[in-house]
Amino acid sequence: MNDLRDLRSARYGALAGTLALALFAASGAQAADVAKGKEKADQVCAACHGKDGNTPIDPSYPRLAGQHADYLRHALHAYQADQRRNPIMGAQAKQLSRADIENLASWYASLPGPLSHQR
Ligand code: HEC
Repeated sequence: MNDLRDLRSARYGALAGTLALALFAASGAQAADVAKGKEKADQVCAACHGKDGNTPIDPSYPRLAGQHADYLRHALHAYQADQRRNPIMGAQAKQLSRADIENLASWYASLPGPLSHQR
């Protein structure tokens, strides 16, 4: 009886390990490089969204500073896939690699802004 229990817990342990690995792989498993995000943001995005991500050149352009990285990443992938349609941002997003998106999302999320939550 005890043997059976041991066998079961060993199986569950292995299963949990496999699940953790799968989740890690699914998350992209690529650490974002905030410095590279800033570099790209300065070169490209600052022209419209402001150097601090918080001073857009037009009031209709969104503030990126302090938004959740998950949300920014999602928005950029949606523009790339034309799931979110905007001629300006669609064209911008299509120039970005997956790594660029990770880095940019982390950079803008790290900036203080009206949309950041108090930590
Ligand atoms: C030519 C001007 C311009 C440039 C350059 C630009 N954007 Fe945008 N961005 C916009 C506009 C306009 C919108 C709003 C589009 C819409 O309504 O969906 C926007 C929206 C966004 C959004 C969605 C924000 C939200 O709150 O939903 C993200 C994220 C974003 N831009 C990121 C970037 C990044 C990252 C770069 C640099 C690679 C960049 N943008 C470059 C004009 C620009």
